[in-house]
Amino acid sequence: MPFSQACENNKGPILVELKRIFANSQQVLEIGSGTGQHSVHFAEHLPHVTWQASDQNSYLTHLNARIELVGSPNLLPAFGLDVTLDWPTQMISPVLDSIFTANTLHIMSKPMVEAFFKGIGQSLIKTSQVAIYGPFNYQGKFSSDSNASFDQWLKQNNPESGIRDIEWITTLAKQQGLILQADIEMPANNRLLHFCRN
Ligand SMILES: C[S@@+](CC[C@H](N)C(=O)[O-])C[C@H]1O[C@@H](n2cnc3c(N)ncnc32)[C@H](O)[C@@H]1O
Repeated sequence: MPFSQACENNKGPILVELKRIFANSQQVLEIGSGTGQHSVHFAEHLPHVTWQASDQNSYLTHLNARIELVGSPNLLPAFGLDVTLDWPTQMISPVLDSIFTANTLHIMSKPMVEAFFKGIGQSLIKTSQVAIYGPFNYQGKFSSDSNASFDQWLKQNNPESGIRDIEWITTLAKQQGLILQADIEMPANNRLLHFCRN
């Protein structure tokens, strides 16, 4: 099964924040669940929420294998969701109140990031929480040398990938009525952005 050491390292610190951010949530949709390590950990430790994993179709076999093997009852089987395609509205809860995504916005191209925000804006109920984990730039500048090197490495793999400016992200969120509540410093030069729509 695919395994990410980064997920093992960051799942503890992320959970501390999600316990607060999703304290009153009922339904969480995770976008770009990857290996599913976050999905199983967060669902287990947030038993009051129904956690819905998702990813592009090519990830689903391994992702659902992990969910089947070690998932808790509140973790639903992952479905296919590519932010640039038609969103599977019939699979998304009509009372979806929360979104989680980790390490996805710097992998996606800019049009994909725009599609991500449009899609979550349309899928969420009015009062909702969004938590986005990953590295971000401030006023076009990298927040560390390691993030600058990481950005170079990303662009070598895919010129359309790259660490995003937080100012652009907050603008896209605002267009969906999502206002930045907190920009939380996390280990290894990452951030956890908490947006809320009231
Ligand atoms: C670096 S991995 C992160 C996986 C996991 N969230 C983690 O933190 O380990 C990037 C993820 O973004 C997803 N992704 C990339 N483009 C996407 C798209 N257009 N729609 C949905 N997910 C996408 C990938 O499939 C992959 O699961």
